[in-house]
Amino acid sequence: MSTEAVRKNYSPVGASLIEKLYSDDYLSIGGTQSTDILADQAGITAESRVLDVGSGLGGPALHLAATRGCRITGLDLVETSILEANNRAKARGLEGLATFQAGDATDMPFESGTFDVVWGQDAWCHVPDKPKLIAECARVLAPKGTIVFTDWLQTGEMDEAQREAVHDATASSNMATMECYCELLEKSGFSVLGREDISAAFITQYRTIIARLERLESEISEQFNPKVFRIMMEKNGAILHAFEGGLIGGGRLVAKRG
Ligand SMILES: C[S@@+](CC[C@H](N)C(=O)[O-])C[C@H]1O[C@@H](n2cnc3c(N)ncnc32)[C@H](O)[C@@H]1O
Repeated sequence: MSTEAVRKNYSPVGASLIEKLYSDDYLSIGGTQSTDILADQAGITAESRVLDVGSGLGGPALHLAATRGCRITGLDLVETSILEANNRAKARGLEGLATFQAGDATDMPFESGTFDVVWGQDAWCHVPDKPKLIAECARVLAPKGTIVFTDWLQTGEMDEAQREAVHDATASSNMATMECYCELLEKSGFSVLGREDISAAFITQYRTIIARLERLESEISEQFNPKVFRIMMEKNGAILHAFEGGLIGGGRLVAKRG
């Protein structure tokens, strides 16, 4: 799946539809609850310098700046999302803490050792080159820095057709397994302090999302057209099917260096 597929999925129209289905400011299913859990696990305080890799419309970063008072930089491939996130930060008086910058997770526009925490909320499944992604996270982190993230993971064996259906529905080119992430982190000099299978929560949240989508049928059909609603039902149905079949799931990881 190319960066073009990511840009298309998170175009202004795509992002606004996803936000409507998920929660305010968020393009990920766990919302502020997931952000709070990750922040506690990473020990984020007002002193932390945080980088959110794949920051979307700013959901996690705006919430962290507002609730923890930390300085946070969001990085995202999609320029329109960066613009929107910066506008939202300004509208809430958070622009001194939360700023957003365009760039690729595998080639980050930051000096080495800039951040205390590198953060990801359900974004890294879109990044094809996971070794490069983790290497970049390690590079921009301070020597005793922490990596904390949730992500969509591959949890079962898939045949070619299943793989294609999942990748097409999720705009991702591959999903890592929990083991793959742990290996990459350890190879980069991190100790994995926490690895949690959160697939059950993902499935519950996804069922809620599909129910919400069904209730939005007339609104989406009128605002766009019935075909858009049908495509959304098909894609989200394929995702729920893969969750329920144990092919994909969710994970939460915390790793520390030094
Ligand atoms: C599922 S959304 C999550 C956004 C945000 N973390 C949240 O919780 O709302 C994934 C985000 O990752 C971004 N993304 C995908 N590939 C990327 C890459 N290679 N570099 C930077 N951002 C990327 C997408 O543009 C999208 O905004």
